[in-house]
Amino acid sequence: MACKPGQAPPTEPNGAGAASTASTASADPHSFGRPDQVRVQHIGLDWTVSFEDQRLVGVATLWVERTDPSASLWLDTRDLAIEAVKTGVMAAPPGGTVPHLADASGITWTDTTWSLGTRDPILGQALEIPLAAEANVVRIEYATQPGATGLQWLGPEQTAEGTDPFLYSQSQAIHARSWIPCQDSPGVRVTYDARVQVPQTEGAEDRVALMSASRRTDPGDAAGQFRFEMPQPIPAYLIALAVGRLEFEALGDRSGVWAEPSVRAKAAHEFADVERMMTVAESLYGPYRWERYDVLVLPPAFPFGGMENPRLTFATPTILAGDRSLVSLIAHELAHSWSGNLVTNTTWEDLWLNEGFTVYIERRIVEELFGEPQAQMEAMLGRQDLEEELGRLEFPGDARLHVDLEGRDPDEGLSDVAYEKGALFLRELEESYGRDVFDPFVRAWFDQHAFTSVDSEQFEAFLDRELVKVASPLPERTAARPKDWIHTEGVPQGAPQPTSDAMDRVDAALQSVLTGKVPIAKMSTDGWTPHQWLHMLRQLPGKVSAKDLAAFDETFSLTASGNYEILAQWLEVGVGEGYAAVDERLERFLLTVGRRKFLMPLYEALLAAGRKADADRIYAKARAGYHPITQHSLDGLLGYGT
Ligand code: BES
Ligand code: ZN
Repeated sequence: MACKPGQAPPTEPNGAGAASTASTASADPHSFGRPDQVRVQHIGLDWTVSFEDQRLVGVATLWVERTDPSASLWLDTRDLAIEAVKTGVMAAPPGGTVPHLADASGITWTDTTWSLGTRDPILGQALEIPLAAEANVVRIEYATQPGATGLQWLGPEQTAEGTDPFLYSQSQAIHARSWIPCQDSPGVRVTYDARVQVPQTEGAEDRVALMSASRRTDPGDAAGQFRFEMPQPIPAYLIALAVGRLEFEALGDRSGVWAEPSVRAKAAHEFADVERMMTVAESLYGPYRWERYDVLVLPPAFPFGGMENPRLTFATPTILAGDRSLVSLIAHELAHSWSGNLVTNTTWEDLWLNEGFTVYIERRIVEELFGEPQAQMEAMLGRQDLEEELGRLEFPGDARLHVDLEGRDPDEGLSDVAYEKGALFLRELEESYGRDVFDPFVRAWFDQHAFTSVDSEQFEAFLDRELVKVASPLPERTAARPKDWIHTEGVPQGAPQPTSDAMDRVDAALQSVLTGKVPIAKMSTDGWTPHQWLHMLRQLPGKVSAKDLAAFDETFSLTASGNYEILAQWLEVGVGEGYAAVDERLERFLLTVGRRKFLMPLYEALLAAGRKADADRIYAKARAGYHPITQHSLDGLLGYGT
């Protein structure tokens, strides 16, 4: 970036106060912020959305708290085009109220020098803003770049309607900095308010902006102007924005779905259990503290299954199976309203405190709503995922719950360990101490740490104080063994091993086919749920021929499955075993779906089958439609651009 007049030259790396080193050893290794010196408390955002330029253009106004009066404000940024930085003085808003800084008036702004540090390939660039004596607000005029890693700009052809472009954000883990200059650490919480100006075109009056916040209306608001306010303090990775042609349908008094017009009814049908999920979670873990819970169904390019943006979960349309069989994903994202959003991991090295707790709670909700057998099936598949993950980890240390991510991209450090080993640890505690003791313990964890960020050490201390010291394990059960779970690789001996009669029946049916006792066309699959199908399909690799797969397909129409979990698993098996009849469906899948969890194994299967040329050919066509995060992962896998 060119130097502007009055702007200091970029800081040299590793010099005194160098912008490329995080401030202290105990700080978040993924943030340049120094919140112990100057902490951002509130962010006001004012953007105009330009689909033509694929940019957000506008202003971020940051209200800061200064602990060290001589220290600069340090922010995280990645690829932001910064136009100007100004500082000012603002009187604190009346106690308890959230300032409205999106279009703040009455502040006298003074130009200030600022400097961007050297670009780190993982972290981006530090932005240092020196603060004059009284300054407590900072105004940053900027624009995002079209390639911002935290945003995806979709063309109309990538939407269900096909008429309008679409924009959405995905900030976890460290992508908020690519669209908002902020202290992008889960240990720093802010409230925010926003004003978003969306271009309105004729005939597209239902083009709306949504954020992870409550919507406000001002009498003076023009068409296409949207206002938001998030009064609960949240970490930056939970700030979220979506813009597109969207409609709303209520599910209950405090819940609903947003989706493109042609997807809305299907989504509302699929998520009919949301209110009951909320009630179950509240009865276990205390009140839902975010007022509303809405789900936004995104276009299929979304790289994740779901993202727990507060008040507004973002979800992939690939869970709309029609039979509500994949709604545990919504239970999962809802559960984050306690584990993650209310009580947050301080750094990504303790992601298990977000995800392990959330998977555990997700299964408790599933058990309550759909019965123990269903929860057990999901737990069993989860345990399989974990074993598989442990077998392919690149860094052995990643088999611990508390991981070392120094110098690493948190996106790459993402594994099933945080999710499934974390959930298994909590399940062991539950089985050891009994639900009578364990449920109130978990609730107290949330109550006592509400709206704060926590680390493994704090959990260990809390466990010791609130469980180990005051309760004893049930007869013949292991006492809590946090060191073995949190700081040791792998799964401790004697860990819970979920079992399921329904899955045993699947094993028996498959066995009878594989041993030739029963022809494939006669395999007994009556009443199988999608999870049973998944369990069956997972066992096929290496045990069947392409001819067998043709028989499976003939009998069960798997290539035509409308359930994306089953379909993805089936396509993977098909590619692996050389069953060419899946190829056409596979290509269409890879060209429309952006969910990384499906894409990675499918491209890997093509490589393993010696079909690099096919993988490259499809990727060349599909890449532009994938999210920057997905592109990054697949570029690596396929050696794209090298
Ligand atoms: N918070 C995660 C998604 C995430 C994690 C994004 C880490 C970026 C970095 C979300 O809650 C999640 O876990 N989604 C899962 C679904 C879940 C049912 C396991 C997914 O997207 O597959
Ligand atoms: Zn999650």
